Amino acid sequence: MGVRSLVSSLLLAGALVSAHPGHEEKVHAHAALPLERKSLDHCSKQFSEPEFVERTVEIHGREYARLRRSLGLDLDEEPKLRPRDYISVSKIDHKTSKAVTKGMDLSTLFSDSGACMLMPSVDQGPLYVQGEQVRKDITETEPGIKMTLAIQVVDYKTCKVVPNAYVDIWSSNSTGIYTGVQGYPGMGDPKDAGILKLTALRGVQPTDDHGVASFDGLLPGHYDGRATHIHAIVYLGATKQANNTITGGKAAHVGQLYFDQTLIAEIDKNTPYNKNKNKVTLNTNDFLFRQGANGDDPIVRYALVGKTLSEGVFAWIRFGVNTNSNQKVSPAAWMTSSGGVMNPNGPVAQLQRGGFGGGFGGFGRRWLGRGN
Ligand SMILES: *[C@@H]1O[C@H](CO)[C@@H](O)[C@H](O)[C@H]1NC(C)=O
Ligand SMILES: *[C@@H]1O[C@H](CO)[C@@H](O)[C@H](O)[C@H]1NC(C)=O
Repeated sequence: MGVRSLVSSLLLAGALVSAHPGHEEKVHAHAALPLERKSLDHCSKQFSEPEFVERTVEIHGREYARLRRSLGLDLDEEPKLRPRDYISVSKIDHKTSKAVTKGMDLSTLFSDSGACMLMPSVDQGPLYVQGEQVRKDITETEPGIKMTLAIQVVDYKTCKVVPNAYVDIWSSNSTGIYTGVQGYPGMGDPKDAGILKLTALRGVQPTDDHGVASFDGLLPGHYDGRATHIHAIVYLGATKQANNTITGGKAAHVGQLYFDQTLIAEIDKNTPYNKNKNKVTLNTNDFLFRQGANGDDPIVRYALVGKTLSEGVFAWIRFGVNTNSNQKVSPAAWMTSSGGVMNPNGPVAQLQRGGFGGGFGGFGRRWLGRGN
């Protein structure tokens, strides 16, 4: 069965299931006020339009098929999919995962508009490097469990997809280290400038005509003080330069995405994740997760590509952006034609000038206090 027929049989099944099961579980409980409207619940009608669903399922289905084929798996084989556990985000509790049946799965998963997010304006965190390459595969030689991450960008006002945006993502490696920034506690030898030339697990992708940008990378590791996460900035109106980097435009969305706690526990059983000595911070203990999950769902949905987690994961999420928003981005470093350069006014440089009082814990808390 080809991708097309797979997709159409999925669509058929999809028409029979609720477009976003579990939304009714959402409780908007916490008091923190988002800076902008959160959640894309008001778009559920548009996101359930057959044409919209068809395109989303087709694009995600194509990626999923590509990943399956790379494992030598036939699409006709029963896919061992596991949906992201639907969480009642405000209760900050995960339900157990259940196996879902062939056919219904992909469609249910890919057409589901539940995984939407519109983060409040948090800043970009201390470890952003601006000027990374436009590339789909950001893995380089980093070891770990493969993850293809598809991010769909939509305009939260019109509920329409946003093509020609650039999504810039970055995360730590399997043992919790970020490349490209020198001198952040816990992120390599602060005296070794060699880290500045490293670019792994950082990259930029344009959104296609259905608003989807996708990356081949790894499931990230964790580091002290934060739940496992990936950073993302959505740039609108940026231009690609001759050297395959982007310039200009505005950062319409600055956010972070997260993973099910049950998935993280599974990841951590695998090498080299199990060599990571950093303490695990649970989603529920992460201030920024709570902020993001307050009224919205910043956890990626995912399916295993093969039979086991170690064979890789396909993950997806939808970002709602305010296309009028222009957020201030302060990178820790820039990647330039002469290599990585620390930003003297960037977050890490500033913290170094201010001293790291309180050690890593105090440092982390200070950042959390700022909402990074
Ligand atoms: C993670 O990155 C650091 C810094 O580049 C490197 O020393 C370490 O070996 C990487 N982790 C793994 C598992 O390779
Ligand atoms: C890419 O080109 C721009 C414009 O010339 C330059 O500023 C930037 O340093 C270059 N980046 C890299 C990584 O070569």
